[in-house]
Amino acid sequence: MSLEPVTNHVTPTPSLVAPEVASNSLQNASLLKLGVMASGSGSNFEAIAQAIADQQLHAQVNVLLYNNPGAKAAARADRWGIPAVLLNHREFESREALDEAIVETLRQHDVEWVIMAGWMRIVTPVLINAFPRRILNIHPSLLPSFKGNRAVEQALAAGVKITGCTVHLVVPEVDSGDIIMQAAVPILPNDTLETLHDRIHTQEYRIFPKAIALAAQVQPPSNA
Ligand code: GRF
Repeated sequence: MSLEPVTNHVTPTPSLVAPEVASNSLQNASLLKLGVMASGSGSNFEAIAQAIADQQLHAQVNVLLYNNPGAKAAARADRWGIPAVLLNHREFESREALDEAIVETLRQHDVEWVIMAGWMRIVTPVLINAFPRRILNIHPSLLPSFKGNRAVEQALAAGVKITGCTVHLVVPEVDSGDIIMQAAVPILPNDTLETLHDRIHTQEYRIFPKAIALAAQVQPPSNA
């Protein structure tokens, strides 16, 4: 038996994104008709709009749904000339009633893929069953760690050294559907909630458009 010398030289990881997909391998997908749902700032929504404008994602955003009056996401939609519809959850008697209105609005705008980009409400089977395996969410942790609210705070409090973000399919159990794509983000010694969330956001903008294209490749068009 020959003994190979042990070295510490490992091939460097090409990227912290998994799976890493070359953008040119995602170019030929048919045009995806998206409906984006956002509760607040909408920076992920804007990153998706920008990726489409830059021809990195073959899609169009038919409508932005938002639930908080004054959400910055609505102003971003205005700038992009994308119709924005307010469905204020406070005006609905149940989660199901809100989701019925969401489904109706998405259908009115001919949406095929539902993109939850910072939608801070739990959704019900009313919405999930209307778009089977066609609803994506982005979550600011490496799932299945740190599900639910305040995922970035949870990671900081746990003392983990690496966290990140995850794009996954939406199922009734919160933050639990099939994982489409993840990016890892190291936690630095002096990180605050803000500095860490900023770096996670940067990775979210990178993976969300790619994950949408990848999910659509795996899942053929609904009329196929
Ligand atoms: C993101 O960090 C996302 O992971 C989480 O909510 C945040 C939304 O940020 N679900 P923004 O509204 O896209 O700026």
